[in-house]
Amino acid sequence: MDKQILIEKINQLRKERQALILAHNYVASEIQEIADFCGDSLELSIKAAAADAKMLIVCGVRFMAETAKILSPDATVVMVRSDAGCPMADMVDPDELKAYKAANPDTLLIAYVNTTAEVKALVDICCTSGNAEKIVSSIPADRKIMFLPDRNLGANLINKLNRPMELWHGCCPVHDAVTVEMITDMRKKYPDAQILVHPECRPEVVSAADQALSTGAMLNYVTASEHDEFTVGTESGILYRMMLANPEKKFHLLQPEILCTDMKKLTLADVERALRTGKDEVILPQDMINSAEGAIRRMLDVK
Ligand code: 13P
Ligand code: SF4
Repeated sequence: MDKQILIEKINQLRKERQALILAHNYVASEIQEIADFCGDSLELSIKAAAADAKMLIVCGVRFMAETAKILSPDATVVMVRSDAGCPMADMVDPDELKAYKAANPDTLLIAYVNTTAEVKALVDICCTSGNAEKIVSSIPADRKIMFLPDRNLGANLINKLNRPMELWHGCCPVHDAVTVEMITDMRKKYPDAQILVHPECRPEVVSAADQALSTGAMLNYVTASEHDEFTVGTESGILYRMMLANPEKKFHLLQPEILCTDMKKLTLADVERALRTGKDEVILPQDMINSAEGAIRRMLDVK
């Protein structure tokens, strides 16, 4: 179907269904263009918590749609693509986590928001890459912490905060594949560009870059920065809003291959279908919602 016709249908359905379309910074630019709100995981959670829409259409991966359902349980929350998952979120087996908890009853569990609802229901508090430093710093120094699932984000926090933590054995395959050589090559090619990476990258990559920031913080950084050239080491979807907000600045991708195949499954036609059919609604057991909500609300309450 023609793009303009699809957009008209989406606009009509959005009104009829009283729906709010939320999009992560990594989805295709044509979806970001029509979304009511684009943001990073933290910003999407805050928006979902405050939403009074009847329907939330979540343009992102499964854990983002589940988070929206947990925070807005009365809304019909629909995934645009039910097969868009996050491989890192699937790296925590709930039974393994239950066994860990039983063996380590004194350890506080901090879960990166990139986890399933089932896992969120088992932990003490959540964090996103946008607030992880604040959340870890809010835990008393004498408390043992297990940070899951991202061993890279966890290691970067340990280095930055000088705070020991036990780390789960997970990572984002997209960001874990970023190398120091990529940074060295791009520094040679564009010596004036600031190099920004995501904190899901390995610690040696974070050390070689100029900044490690969540996608939302990256956007704010490039907009506020006096620098006018940037090399961006994260999923390419982020460039759309960076360029839109900063037409006079120059942006390079660290590697065009840094692609999240799950985020890139979503198309405008999928958004229209999700709105029209309401299929792939997120349904979670009430007790899971209650426990997971506690972990997310504790995160949102940390000042
Ligand atoms: P942000 O919280 O920075 O948006 O990151 C989410 C994510 O999945 C990064 O890979
Ligand atoms: Fe998951 Fe990585 Fe994709 Fe983010 S980029 S959704 S962490 S696989």
